[in-house]
Amino acid sequence: MSEAKKRAAEKALQYVEDGMIVGVGTGSTVAYFIDGLAQFRDRIQGAVSSSEQSTARLRAHGIEVLDLNNAGTLALYVDGADECDPHKRLIKGGGAALTREKIIAEASKVFVCIVDPSKRVPILGKFPLPVEVIPMARSLVAREILRMTGGQPVWRDGVVTDNGNWILDIHNLSIVDPVTVERELNQIPGVVSVGLFARRPADVVIVGGEPPTVL
Ligand code: 5RP
Repeated sequence: MSEAKKRAAEKALQYVEDGMIVGVGTGSTVAYFIDGLAQFRDRIQGAVSSSEQSTARLRAHGIEVLDLNNAGTLALYVDGADECDPHKRLIKGGGAALTREKIIAEASKVFVCIVDPSKRVPILGKFPLPVEVIPMARSLVAREILRMTGGQPVWRDGVVTDNGNWILDIHNLSIVDPVTVERELNQIPGVVSVGLFARRPADVVIVGGEPPTVL
């Protein structure tokens, strides 16, 4: 699996151009991308990072990490996913970085998603859907999720996001209309963000087969 992740990440380097500010996601696939991005260190302006974990790796390679507030619209965002459907809609947040990932995806012109072949699914939802919640609203949000979706929300006990919040993972969902589910879950007071990337899906998906496929 890690070879497939590496192949997808290396293919994504083809989207990096001189002078760019590159949005960088989080996870084991993105770690390969960051390692490859090091060779562009002196040719790009820098990176906007989606997590403390990615920031540390970027800095270890000498890549400047910039504040999104000063970066404007980004030309490129590269990130992994936990699931990807045929319409390039995604479940993300297995690494608990979904909120910053969603902000950067929204701020980017081109979102390139890098995955190994196991992440491709016909319908999203087998992977438990992560939802970032304000801690005091955890039980309220869990009850609402159960009522609205019938899925089983499970608290990712012990995990605190980079934003100081908690994660609920919704099990047993089959998400046939991801745009609606994303919109409705976003309405629950206390929800910070939902790990469905359907309203703003990926633009390009690179599957790290041998050779990699670009969808
Ligand atoms: C982190 C994410 C990751 O992109 C997702 O969990 C995939 O991770 P990996 O590349 O390690 O399989 O959304 O919040």
